[in-house]
Amino acid sequence: MENTQKRVTFGGKISAVLVAAGSAVGLGNIWRFPYVAGENGGGAFLIIYILCILIMGLPLMIAEFSIGSASRHNAVGAFRTLGHRRWGGIGYIGILASVLILGFYLVVAGWTAEYTIHSLTDDLVRQSDPTFHQRSFEAFIAHPWKPIFYSTLFAVATHIIIVLGVKQGIERASKVMMPLLFIFLIILAIHSMLMPGGMEGIRFFLTPDFSKVTPSSVLVALGQAFFSLSIGLGTMITYGSYFKPKTRVQDTAIEVSAIDTMVAMLAGLMVFPAVFSAGIEPGAGPSLVFITLPSIFSSMPLSQLWSSLFFLLLVIAALTSTISLHEAITAYMHEEWKLTRRSAACITTVLTALLGALASLSLGILDHWRIAGLNIFDALDYVTANILLPIGAMLTCLFAGWCFDKQTFASQLYPSCQPKPFFGLIRFMLRFCCPIIILLIFLHNLGLL
Ligand code: PHE
Repeated sequence: MENTQKRVTFGGKISAVLVAAGSAVGLGNIWRFPYVAGENGGGAFLIIYILCILIMGLPLMIAEFSIGSASRHNAVGAFRTLGHRRWGGIGYIGILASVLILGFYLVVAGWTAEYTIHSLTDDLVRQSDPTFHQRSFEAFIAHPWKPIFYSTLFAVATHIIIVLGVKQGIERASKVMMPLLFIFLIILAIHSMLMPGGMEGIRFFLTPDFSKVTPSSVLVALGQAFFSLSIGLGTMITYGSYFKPKTRVQDTAIEVSAIDTMVAMLAGLMVFPAVFSAGIEPGAGPSLVFITLPSIFSSMPLSQLWSSLFFLLLVIAALTSTISLHEAITAYMHEEWKLTRRSAACITTVLTALLGALASLSLGILDHWRIAGLNIFDALDYVTANILLPIGAMLTCLFAGWCFDKQTFASQLYPSCQPKPFFGLIRFMLRFCCPIIILLIFLHNLGLL
C-alpha cells in the first residue's frame, strides 16, 4: 500500500466534480444524445433516460468512485486490492473497453476538430444546401488520410495533457475547459430557442409521446446512460483514486450525474429548435450534428460565429473525455507494469491512434473488412456498448454489493459524518436490482431473451 501515501490527489471538492464531469460530458451528450432521443420519441425517451440515470447510473457511479477512493489504485489494482486476485478481471474488461472506445471516439473527435477549422476558415458555412453538407461529410469521413490526420492530432493533444500529469494536466485542463463548455452551451441553446419555429422543437423534446417508445428504447436509454456517465469500465474508479480522502463520494456522484444530465438536456434544447426551425427530420441519426446543423448555421446571420462556437464546444467536450479514457489505461500500465508514466502514455497513444486510424479507414477503403457483418468502426461501438460495458457494469455492481467491505464502502460516501443517508438503499440496488436489470437487458440485446 505504499501507493496510498504517494498518490497525487485532485485539489479539492470542486476540482473532483469538474474533472469527473469532464469525463462524463462528451460527444455522448452533445452528438449522440440528441439523435438517439430524436429517434426514440423525444420527451418520452428523456423521462426513461432520467430514470435510468437515477436507478442504475447513480448507484454505480457511487460504487466506482468508492472503489477508487478506498483502494487508491488503477481499475485493475483497485479490484485486486479490495477483493481477491480474481476480481482484477473486472478491471481488465474495463481497460480493454477503454482502448476500444478510445479507438472510435478519437475518430469522431477528429471530425469535430476538422469541422471547427472549416468553420473558422469559413468554407463550411457558405453553403446552405443540406445535400452539399451530406456529400462533403460522407466524402470527408471516407477520405483515406484526412480524418486520420485529425484523429491523430486529437490523440497527440490528449497525450500532452496526460504527460503533464494528474494535477498540472488533467485537473488544470478540466478547470479551464468545463466552464468554457457551459458558457458556449448556454449561449448556443438560447440562440437556438429564439430562432423562428424553435418552440416546436422544444415541444418535441419536452412533451412525452409514449406511443413511440418500444422495449428497445429502454435498452438504448440504459446504454446511453452508462456511456454518458462514463461508467462500467473503470474510468470513474481511476478518477476516484485521485480524490482527496475526505471527498464526499455520494455528493460528488450526485453532482456529476446532475451536470451530465443537464448538459444532455441543454444539448437537446440547442439541437431540436434549430432542427425544427429548418424543417428537418429530428431522427436524422448520427449525421444530425455534422450534416443538419452546418446547413442550418449557414442560413443564419453570423453563421461563421455560431458554427465555430458549436464545433469548438464539441472539441472541448470530446477532449475532456478522451483524457479520462487515456488516463485509465495509462494509470494501469504505469502501476501494474511498472512503466514510467511517460512510457505508459506513449504506448497508450500509439496503440489507440493506430486503432483510430483503422476505424477511420473502415469507413472508406477498408469498408470490406467486416467483423460479424460490421465494419471496424461499428464493431468497436457495438462490442463496447452492447457487450463490454454491460458486463463490466454488472460485475462492478456485484463486487460493490457482495464483496466490497461494508464499512469501508460506507466510509467513502461521507468520510467524516454519521449517519450515512441512503447507504442501505444504494447497497441494496447494487446487490439485487442493478445486476438483474443489466443481465435482462444484456440478454435481450444479444437476442437471447
Ligand atoms: N461519457 C463520455 C461521453 O459522454 C464518453 C466516455 C465513456 C468517456 C466512457 C469515458 C469513459 O461522451
